[in-house]
Amino acid sequence: MTRPQGSIQYDNRGRVVLVTGGANGIGRAICESWLQSGAAVVCMDIDAAAAESLPEGILFVRGDTAERGDCDNAVAFACDSCGGLDVLINNAAIQPRDSYLPQHEYSAELWDRLVAVNLTGYAQMAGSALKVMVEQGSGVVCNICSAQGHRTARQVAAYGPIKAANLLQARQWGVEYARLGIRCVSISPGAVMTPMIRATLAEQGGAAALANRTPLGRIGNPEEIAAATLWMCSPAASFVTATDLLVDGGIDALAAFADPWPMPAE
Ligand SMILES: NC(=O)c1ccc[n+]([C@@H]2O[C@H](COP(=O)([O-])OP(=O)(O)OC[C@H]3O[C@@H](n4cnc5c(N)ncnc54)[C@H](O)[C@@H]3O)[C@@H](O)[C@H]2O)c1
Repeated sequence: MTRPQGSIQYDNRGRVVLVTGGANGIGRAICESWLQSGAAVVCMDIDAAAAESLPEGILFVRGDTAERGDCDNAVAFACDSCGGLDVLINNAAIQPRDSYLPQHEYSAELWDRLVAVNLTGYAQMAGSALKVMVEQGSGVVCNICSAQGHRTARQVAAYGPIKAANLLQARQWGVEYARLGIRCVSISPGAVMTPMIRATLAEQGGAAALANRTPLGRIGNPEEIAAATLWMCSPAASFVTATDLLVDGGIDALAAFADPWPMPAE
């Protein structure tokens, strides 16, 4: 993995982190960064095949965040294997290529799956983890949200509003659990080159256009999102809760997400 230039060394020895969707993309970079910082890392993912190539030392538990039992199981696995749970990173989400639709074209099945994974999945994982954290009197929950949760974009009638809900979940939990020693935060990436957007960008011919519209002039890499999780979930951010950090190359400030990517077919 490529470390962002000038990256800070964190010492997460003795801390346990559970990362959902950690077998690929941003989640994988989060797992690797936390492992390098000394943490005990548990990756929960539905993609057991991809998890086989995770670096040695990362523990894997197969599970679907849309299934409540799998969420409880992943948290129990982390606690049993590592002796507790200090940090949950809610990262597993889907944005299938066939979900770039206006509202009236959504099938019930597609809508329900996006809600089940991207919204209910985050709530279920947090619910399971917070039970442990309340008992411990400490912990951090970090929701990976999206710049598309801050601004509208074309054809993200499910993904965008659900990402906005993930922002509010972190604020809600942040306030609710503040006096119990638990911080809840979120991070909103802009466009980051991962399997999730690679195919869509290739189809739309949009990688260069999206990079051009980003003030920093490029698409982000997963390690840059991982670096933000290390800070947001570290004791250095001890007075930070119920808030969001945009890691988006400046695209939100320019309000440039919506136009013209991804464009509907002419
Ligand atoms: N890539 C981007 O440009 C971008 C931008 C903004 C926000 N995000 C957010 O970042 C996060 C990671 O995105 P990514 O681009 O790395 O995605 P990705 O598709 O590359 O990886 C997602 C991972 O989640 C796993 N997963 C999917 N559904 C799951 C489920 N129900 N239970 C458990 N695991 C499941 C997949 O197997 C995969 O390993 C998501 O929350 C996404 O919405 C990504």
